[in-house]
Amino acid sequence: MDKLVIRGGRRISGSVTASGSKNTSLPIIAATLLTGAGTFTLHQIPDLVDIKTFTQLLNHLGAETTFEKNTLRVSSRNVENIQAPYELVKKMRASIYVLGPMLARFGHARVSLPGGCAFGPRPIDLHLMAMEKLGATITIETGFIDATAPDGKLRGGHIDFPISSVGATGNALMAAVLAEGTTTISNAAAEPEIETLCRFLIAMGATIRGTGTTELEIEGTDKLEAIEFHNVFDRIEAGTLLAAAAITGGDITVNGVEPEQMKAVLKKFVHAGCSVETTENSITLKSPEKLISTDVTAKPYPSFPTDMQAQWIALMTQAEGTSHITDKVYHERFNHIPELNRLGAHIEIHKNQAIVHGPQTLSGTKVMSTDLRASASLVLAGLVAEGTTEVLRVYHLDRGYEKIEIKLNSLGADISREKYSEFQ
Ligand code: EPZ
Repeated sequence: MDKLVIRGGRRISGSVTASGSKNTSLPIIAATLLTGAGTFTLHQIPDLVDIKTFTQLLNHLGAETTFEKNTLRVSSRNVENIQAPYELVKKMRASIYVLGPMLARFGHARVSLPGGCAFGPRPIDLHLMAMEKLGATITIETGFIDATAPDGKLRGGHIDFPISSVGATGNALMAAVLAEGTTTISNAAAEPEIETLCRFLIAMGATIRGTGTTELEIEGTDKLEAIEFHNVFDRIEAGTLLAAAAITGGDITVNGVEPEQMKAVLKKFVHAGCSVETTENSITLKSPEKLISTDVTAKPYPSFPTDMQAQWIALMTQAEGTSHITDKVYHERFNHIPELNRLGAHIEIHKNQAIVHGPQTLSGTKVMSTDLRASASLVLAGLVAEGTTEVLRVYHLDRGYEKIEIKLNSLGADISREKYSEFQ
C-alpha cells in the first residue's frame, strides 16, 4: 500500500496545468455505450484509478478501449453483456452511470447496487425513479437492480427531481436521448459535468434544449454517432491546487481552466484575503500575510461545491478567527476532521456544520485517508504542518487526483510516495 510522506513548511508557488475532469469523464465515457456506430476518441481524460475502474467495467460489458497519453478510445460495437458486477460497482459508485445507456440501448440492464460510502448514505432512488418515468420496470433482487424497458424501448416522460442530483440527472439524460418521444427534466443538476454531458450528447446527434440550466428537454432519436471530444478541466483539482498555495503562503497560476466554472470558490478565496486574477483560461492566486476566517455553505452548483468542503476546512485551520463550514449536500462528510485534529487543528462538528478555530499550528504525524477529498485535505494540512506528515491509504487520493505529489513537488513541495504495510 502507498503513503505520502510530506515534509511541511514549504511554500507552494509557480504555475501548473489542471488535468481533465474526473466527474465529467465518467458520464461521457458511459455515454459511449449508447451507440455501436464507430469508435469514440476522448481527449484530456485523466489517468486515475476511477477511470481505470470504469473502463474495466466497459470492457466487462464488451466494449473495446485503449488509453494512452490521456486519450481514451472506446468502441461499444460488441457490447452485449448487460450486467455490471458487484466487484466493479463496489469499487466506484459512479458505475451506476451504465444503467441509463444500457437500458436505453438494449432495453434491459442489470447493475449491482453500489453499497455504502465513507461519508454516509448515497442512495440511488432518484436514478431508479427517472428510469421508471421513462417506462422502465425496475426490480431489486439479490443486490442487483434489474431494469427492463417495455417492448425493449423507453418512452419519453416528465422527470421532476425533488433534489438536485448530478448522477441521476446524467442517467436520465443518457436514457432519454434514445427514448421514443420527448422527455422533460425539472430541477436537473446544472453542474458543469452535466452541461458538458449535454454538449457531448448533442455532438453525438441528440436534441437537447436547456443545456446548462435546471430545465432540460430531450427529443429522443435512434441515430447517434461516435465522436471525437475534448474533456473539460477538473474544477476540484484546480481548487485544491489553489488551496495548496493559499495554505502555505504561496502564489500560484493554474492554467487550462475556465474561471467561470469556479466563481463561488474564487469568491471565497478573496474573502479569505487572497488576491485572485483570472484570464480566459487561467487563475492566479496570491496569498495574504494572514488568512481571514471565512464561512462556507456547500450546495449544488453554482454554489460552493461539496467536493471542496474538506479542502476548505484544512485551509481555515490557518485563518484568523472562527469559520463555519456547512455541507448541505452530504451531512456526514466530515471524516477528515478527526484526522486534522490529530495534526493539531481545533475543529468541532455540530450536525452538518464544522466549526474551525484558527489559526492553529499543525504538527506532522501519521494520518489516515478515509475518502477522496478527505485525503486531499490531509495533504493540504501536511504541506503546512511542522515536521513530517504521513498520509496513509493514498489509494483514496489516487482515485481522483492525477500525479498530485508530482504537481505539488514541481511547485516547491517535498513529498515522497512510499510503500508500507499496515500490519507491521
Ligand atoms: C457526484 O456524485 C460527484 N461524483 C460527487 O463527487 C459529488 O460530491 C456529488 O456529485 C455532488 O456534487 C461524480 O460526479 C462521479 P448527487 P453523485 O447525486 O452524482 C442525494 C468526488 O469527490 N441523492 O449529486 O452521486 C445524495 O445522497 C465525488 O469526486 C439521493 O438522495 O451525487 C446527495 O445528498 C464524491 N438519491 C445529493 O442527492 C439519489 O438517487 C446529491 O448527490 C441520488 C442522490
